[in-house]
Amino acid sequence: MKILVTGGTGYIGSHTVVALQQKGYEVVIVDNLSNSQADIVDQIEKITGLRPELEVFDLANRELTADFFRRHSDVLGVIHFAAFKAVGESVEKPLYYYRNNLVSLMNILESMQENNIRNIVFSSSCTVYGQPDILPVSEKAPIKKAESPYGNTKQISEEILQDYIKVSGLHAIALRYFNPIGAHETALIGELPLGVPNNLVPFITQTAIGIRQELKVFGDDYPTPDGTPIRDYIHVMDLAQAHVVAVQRMIGQQMKQGFEVFNLGTGKGYSVLEVINAFEKVSGTKLNYKIVDRREGDVTQVWADPTFSHNELGWKAEKGLDEMVGSAWKWEQAYRSRS
Ligand code: UD1
Repeated sequence: MKILVTGGTGYIGSHTVVALQQKGYEVVIVDNLSNSQADIVDQIEKITGLRPELEVFDLANRELTADFFRRHSDVLGVIHFAAFKAVGESVEKPLYYYRNNLVSLMNILESMQENNIRNIVFSSSCTVYGQPDILPVSEKAPIKKAESPYGNTKQISEEILQDYIKVSGLHAIALRYFNPIGAHETALIGELPLGVPNNLVPFITQTAIGIRQELKVFGDDYPTPDGTPIRDYIHVMDLAQAHVVAVQRMIGQQMKQGFEVFNLGTGKGYSVLEVINAFEKVSGTKLNYKIVDRREGDVTQVWADPTFSHNELGWKAEKGLDEMVGSAWKWEQAYRSRS
């Protein structure tokens, strides 16, 4: 029952490792620590009492990847999180993003084939839908031209998987995440972006704790009820559980097709101001924020139709917005008081 989690010391990866261990899976992590720290495995061990194995190397290195898989040919499945994800940076350094995100996927697929490992869960994103024409957005919605090299790596990766399963006997599930936020209830693991956060919730919590002076709200002139953009925020532990379910579906040979795609969202959208209000209420703090110009590339609104995930995966997000922002705040406070 051994699962390889690439990027397992990262934000979503670490929460998924916890969820896997708690369902009885043995976990081996591969991570190059480019955006995370090795001591995350200590934190995971504090939560579950089990220490995941960690190997530190870059999956874009073909020889190291092949060697790893030869030594771990008993792996039942792979959950592939390891990737760069900063939209703005990907525009500045497109080749860096294409090489990292695509070469690592191809190295993994080749090594899986060589060692007869058949199951892979891939981290995709709702970014593949762009601004959907119909809301909520279902898995059947068309893929729109990517706004950034980052988004394009997600689209191309899905295509690589789709093409490869036709000739390899591999099974792949792509999970399209909406906006993951929050932290494990123990506050021992959470989201820890290097440098200035790009994403809303870490920026909110870092502002509230005094690391950032003020939050900039990127535009209040969108055609939404309060003028700020709407997203489908989902608790990272709900997301983690979905990965366990996807792994069980593959190992239990319940897949209906060799390549399946599922939305991971709650089905409910919140505006930026609604997230700020929920944070202020739950934390009892007043957030220093100001409305500024729109951020280039932001879509107006997107939220999931999770019906297919409910029906086919038998998975449903359970945690609401207050719990999400509350856990993010608890994590920020706990982390800063430790360091
Ligand atoms: C972004 C990416 C998405 C990627 C995801 C993972 C873009 C356009 N999209 O999602 O492709 O999969 O991150 O990292 O970059 N906001 C502020 N102030 C801030 C930060 C954010 O007002 O300081 C607003 C944004 O305008 C947006 C909302 O908060 O309306 C959510 O932003 P963010 O957390 O960055 O997520 P996305 O942009 O939805």
